[in-house]
Amino acid sequence: MGSSETRRRILTGDRPTGRLHLGHWVGSISNRVRLQDEYECFFIIADWHTLTTRPEKDAIAEVAGNIHEMVLDYLACGIDPERSTIFVQSAIPETAELNLIFEMLVSLPRLERLPSIKDMAEAAHLDVLPFGLVGYPVLQAADILLPRAHAVPVGKDNVPHVEITREIARRFNHLYGDVFAEPEPLISDTPSLPGINGMQKMSKSLGNAILLSDDSDVVRKRVMSMYTDPNRLRATDPGTVEGNPVFIYHDAFNPDRDEIQDLKTRYREGRVGDVEVKKKLFAALDAFIAPIRERRAAFAAQPGIVEDILHAGNATMHNVARETIERVREAMGMTYFRR
Ligand code: TRP
Repeated sequence: MGSSETRRRILTGDRPTGRLHLGHWVGSISNRVRLQDEYECFFIIADWHTLTTRPEKDAIAEVAGNIHEMVLDYLACGIDPERSTIFVQSAIPETAELNLIFEMLVSLPRLERLPSIKDMAEAAHLDVLPFGLVGYPVLQAADILLPRAHAVPVGKDNVPHVEITREIARRFNHLYGDVFAEPEPLISDTPSLPGINGMQKMSKSLGNAILLSDDSDVVRKRVMSMYTDPNRLRATDPGTVEGNPVFIYHDAFNPDRDEIQDLKTRYREGRVGDVEVKKKLFAALDAFIAPIRERRAAFAAQPGIVEDILHAGNATMHNVARETIERVREAMGMTYFRR
């Protein structure tokens, strides 16, 4: 751990939506597990961000349970709290202070232009934008810059928010002096995993997900019900492999490349049925999920482990946050009334 001061920092994270699915693993979690070797990683559970579209008390009542499930999934996947800091956004009030300062450094039209905000409003059936939802990227900038991150692993949809973060960092440094690095987005180039219905990307709310914590029977049922090539009616019809979810999943999760190649060849020539392709996919997926499921159960059997990890992560992040805020106030000349 002696080198931790010299390692570059990453901050990324999720809103607390609960258990994670295969799409999360492909799109972000696998990447984070790998990045832990090279970077000092901060993983934020952005509970304040859920308020931007769901401020109701019944939604808030689900947050604690969602955080718990998500942290178990992180641990099961190999996010290592000995090396990385997992923390909860609302446990770090300095985030709100930095957010307020950053609100002065970005224009309203700049934020209103972002398609991501309109998309979120639409998905949440909001016909007018709450002030806080327009400010979503500013709060995200506070998340990223509070630990003075150098890089932000995100999906393509979040890249404009990292761009705003860079602009805010630049503006802050220009007005007050160099405090922040301009963090780079590390864009995952894996295309998003389609859902088992083949329609949209995998998403729990769309009901087309396979969870990292699903048991074998559920995984089998989900795989056997998967959407394949809609134009192929019989096993003897030549089928299309490209864009076919069963083959996308084979490519992502089946380590037996020869088996995949054989299945694809026979599929194209009409010499294999969907059932065989799916049975082999189930075997591969279940072999992939089984160790995650086992590790998850082992963590879940240790009472208080999630709370202890978050407690320690919050404390680590809080120290970093206090140091950043100290530098921010110093740079701004706002040292006349110290806490
Ligand atoms: N906006 C992210 C999402 O789509 C969650 C998030 C909040 C985040 N703060 C962040 C991601 C900071 C990266 C960095 O759910």
